[in-house]
Amino acid sequence: MSGDSPLYCVKMRASRDGAHISGAEKIVPASAVPGTAEALAARALAHPKGSPDDVRIKVERAGEILHLPSLPVRTYKTATAAEGMAKAAELLASDGVARLPEIFARFRETYAMRGAMLLDADTLERLEPDRARGVRATYMDDAESAAKRSASGKNHYAEAIVLATKVQAAPGVIAEICVSDDPDYLTGYVASSTLGYCRITTIKEKGDPAGGRIFLYRGPREQVPETIRFLEKQCVLVEGVPVLGPSPEAPETRWRGLREDLDAVRDAGLWRTIRTCESAAGPHARIEGRDLLVLSSNDYLDLARDPRVVEAAARAVREFGTGSGGSRLTTGSQPPHEALERHLAAFKGTEDALIFGTGYMANVGVITAICGKGDAILSDELNHASIIDGCRLSRADVLVYRHNDMDDLSRKLSACREHRRRLVVSDAVFSMDGDLLDLPRFLETTRRHDAFSMIDEAHATGVLGATGRGLCEHFSCGHPDILMGTLSKALGAEGGFICGSRLLVDYLRNRSRPFIFSTSLPPSVAAAADAALSVLEAEPWRAEAVRRNARSLVGELARLGIQTRTESAIVPIPVGDETRAVCASAALLERGVWIPAIRYPTVARGTARLRAAVMATHTDEEIRFAAGAIAEALSQ
Ligand SMILES: Cc1ncc(COP(=O)(O)O)c(C=O)c1O
Repeated sequence: MSGDSPLYCVKMRASRDGAHISGAEKIVPASAVPGTAEALAARALAHPKGSPDDVRIKVERAGEILHLPSLPVRTYKTATAAEGMAKAAELLASDGVARLPEIFARFRETYAMRGAMLLDADTLERLEPDRARGVRATYMDDAESAAKRSASGKNHYAEAIVLATKVQAAPGVIAEICVSDDPDYLTGYVASSTLGYCRITTIKEKGDPAGGRIFLYRGPREQVPETIRFLEKQCVLVEGVPVLGPSPEAPETRWRGLREDLDAVRDAGLWRTIRTCESAAGPHARIEGRDLLVLSSNDYLDLARDPRVVEAAARAVREFGTGSGGSRLTTGSQPPHEALERHLAAFKGTEDALIFGTGYMANVGVITAICGKGDAILSDELNHASIIDGCRLSRADVLVYRHNDMDDLSRKLSACREHRRRLVVSDAVFSMDGDLLDLPRFLETTRRHDAFSMIDEAHATGVLGATGRGLCEHFSCGHPDILMGTLSKALGAEGGFICGSRLLVDYLRNRSRPFIFSTSLPPSVAAAADAALSVLEAEPWRAEAVRRNARSLVGELARLGIQTRTESAIVPIPVGDETRAVCASAALLERGVWIPAIRYPTVARGTARLRAAVMATHTDEEIRFAAGAIAEALSQ
């Protein structure tokens, strides 16, 4: 792009009586340095703020260059400064930044600074060593300028995108808010790597000369000097900076539809962010530099880091290597796969079992193997997405019955008597509500109609029943035809399984596409799940402890005026509005508690909630602390 010729940074700063008037910088090839210097000097001399008495042009050979793709740009039209600030707040909240009113109050402090304020996003402590000067983001340009030309004049818009793109790449910076210091320029922006560059057309009052910027930081303190070094020294060229206005031959035309769809997702408060967890799963985790109390994990029995489970996996890695090398139909099973299947069948009390790469694949794999065109699948309206996808892929007729309503199920089964096969499928524990399937009536209804019965025990295995065997043990009743489960939750590993008759499992080995056409689980993962199952059998107190902790969280919340229910490890805390749920989750993070906001499409629109999940090893004190934090977060 820049060819082999070296690049130079050309910087201009203009001031009068020592007060800053303007500044700009370009990164260009040697041949463009004279023209660029001239253009920048001309720009300094003709600045609307007045003529400078000191113009400095500095030319330096560029250091190592980092190439970054431009942040995508979107515009929010706002009519007043108050509306603009509210929009900025809403956008930042969807990115997990909670103390917005206080952050905006700090914004006033930045107006007199030459650089930006580097603010801890959670404690609001200022992190830059020189408070009067702030942090300057420099050494950056639009890659286009380095590629071809001299400075192509002034383009505040492109310069701001370049700056925002560099800032979002700085270690630990999670977002930026910026308002221009030009009294007539009312447009500002917020930016983050997930939101992109969000222009807000009116964010301040006309005539107000105050402007500035804040970088919000979330990360370890030891990293702050590196963040500042990156902002102040690292050379960055930004590729693909969008031009204002539609451009018919813009290469991204084909991407426009995707961008619009994503914009709609953001607008609806449904943007998803993924945090980095720097520690093993467990009741506590180090997330982006902070130690948090975790009520978001499905590792209900705290087995993912159990030394016995870890050692079993390590032993299997040493003996069998890291990957399995292929589908079991082509490269065979390894002993840990076979041992785990025997163990699962014995644990669930079925003739046989078959493991899949994930729980998702197990659901899709069994439903599509059993049902096709001409068959009917009856599915509870709150079933998990992997069941829904299995139904869709099967091409069978799908009849959705009302949640846990066996009369509705029975009516619908009567209506599809003519179908070749009928499969009724339900979650055992409903994953976003924590309630249980009425299994005895489910079995009675499906048998009466001679339909296949299937339950998904993803959240039941290891949690329900005196010894954690699941929903059948909980109700002390018989089995459905198909018992699906996952190794990825209470068993602390990865993968899914189907338990059932020998006939069923033989059928799946021959007909289930996700089993046939996908590489089998690494043997170490099978060994880990096998060991976890042994721990569960030896220590049934874990299942009981999970249920006790869930009941105690519900009790503590009730004491604080928050009504909810559960029959499993999952405690849903209803919120309703999507953005409010995201803000509540962010406010919890600030209090050191990690509970995710669950929104559409995982649950119906307008029924957003906090989904707390307890573990066997949470202490009474932690449960009380979490309940208090939830109450505070919801009252904000
Ligand atoms: C009810 C239910 N079924 C199936 C799955 C999929 O399991 P896995 O995560 O192992 O793919 C999940 C996971 O979220 C689930 O909650």
